Amino acid sequence: MAAAEYEAAIMKSPPKTFHVKSFGCQMNVYDGDRMAETLAEQGMTATDDASAADLVVLNTCHIRERATEKVYSDIGRIRKHALRDHGADPMIAVAGCVAQAEGAEIVRRAKVDVVVGPQAYHNLPALVARAARGEAALDTDMPVDLKFGHLPARRRVPPSAFLTVQEGCDKFCTYCVVPYTRGAEVSRGWTQIVDEAKALVEAGAKEITLLGQNVNAWGDDGKGLHDLIAALADLPALHRIRYTTSHPNDMTQGLIEAHRDIPKLMPFLHLPVQAGSDRILSRMNRSHTRASYLRLIERVRAVRPDIAVSGDFIVGFPGESEADFAETLSLLDTVRHAQAFSFKYSPRPGTPAATMADQVAPEVMDERLQRLQAALGRDQAAFNAASVGTRCTVLMERKGKLPGQLIGKSPWLQSVHVVDDEHHGAEIGDLVEVEIAAAWPNSVTGVMVKQDGGADETVQRAKLDVAA
Ligand code: 5AD
Ligand code: SF4
Repeated sequence: MAAAEYEAAIMKSPPKTFHVKSFGCQMNVYDGDRMAETLAEQGMTATDDASAADLVVLNTCHIRERATEKVYSDIGRIRKHALRDHGADPMIAVAGCVAQAEGAEIVRRAKVDVVVGPQAYHNLPALVARAARGEAALDTDMPVDLKFGHLPARRRVPPSAFLTVQEGCDKFCTYCVVPYTRGAEVSRGWTQIVDEAKALVEAGAKEITLLGQNVNAWGDDGKGLHDLIAALADLPALHRIRYTTSHPNDMTQGLIEAHRDIPKLMPFLHLPVQAGSDRILSRMNRSHTRASYLRLIERVRAVRPDIAVSGDFIVGFPGESEADFAETLSLLDTVRHAQAFSFKYSPRPGTPAATMADQVAPEVMDERLQRLQAALGRDQAAFNAASVGTRCTVLMERKGKLPGQLIGKSPWLQSVHVVDDEHHGAEIGDLVEVEIAAAWPNSVTGVMVKQDGGADETVQRAKLDVAA
């Protein structure tokens, strides 16, 4: 970075308080937490109020255009509020995938103090110190030596914690920036992951979600993700294991069978398909077909019939015709997703699809997204409705708005709202047995049966395993 680009940078006192705000995927949430831990280790104090913080870290997402534009409007708003409420000009650090993709551009356009990429944030304290001296502070290196070994130990974690085991992507779907912003597929080592899982469990995690852009491509020394899941399932105080996000082509027989053999592995599979037409899947360079995806879902359902299937969808990819889109809708009818994310295609600079001819008109995308979301909403509501009258175990994660209300997740990742009106004494972090009493489009209502009970087959079996 040329010194001239830092003309606007001024010396600021070293920050004492900080606020980290993460956008985008769960990996960013994990990264944001780890940045906070790194800053706290340097003696800085976290604050929930962004406008009162000496240092604001925006941990950004670059996956779609709107996510990027949000960063710039957020920077403006934070400065305005800090000035209005506290008469201060906070130090601003931009982290995450926008930092990686547009680092120098952000410095020029928004005059931020620090820019740090997703593979370099272990250097955040050093960069903050440089910025406080008025020096250039930009690090978007992607070192071979992963940052994880340089981060402090996990101390305070929620009942459901994230653990990044794999980063980056070699798939190069033609619409996607991830292979460029997060780099090539890299797996963390077995021992480091198991140690971090133990630390999370000791710090109170009851559930761990293993994260990776292509988490099911994880591997170390011939071992695959299913071996890792089996090892983590041996940790007695860990009750639930999840993983996300997976690519259909890395869904091994071992991982499929893990859904049958490992009771602590929750019956939920987020397996993006993106589109239902082979012509579009091929233009997307997905390297799977509609038929191979559907076969995969059948194989998973054969070993775990109750599995909840989730996915990601893109409408309006360049060249998508009405007939192609109809194939996406008909795929839904076969799979019946329990939940899903759906997006309008957004051309990303530097990706092959951005320069493809026959881009789809915005109003066509709007209309297709509406139809897709109506269909997905119908399937999610049906999935939720089918659970009414059944019992399951819910891991309580936060307080609800009503008095005595707690919100947690079912094994199938439904949000379950529970009111402890019989005063069972349930708390955040408890595994509670509930009966599902009512279903809503995005959640269900549960009635508490008894605390830490075992009617849910999954957890019951998990407990037997522990006792054995
Ligand atoms: N436009 C729209 N959606 C995208 N996604 C990734 N790149 C784009 C893009 N350029 C979606 C995919 C992916 C999810 C994380 O984001 O559905 O699975
Ligand atoms: Fe992006 Fe495709 Fe890799 Fe997923 S598999 S991160 S969509 S390139």
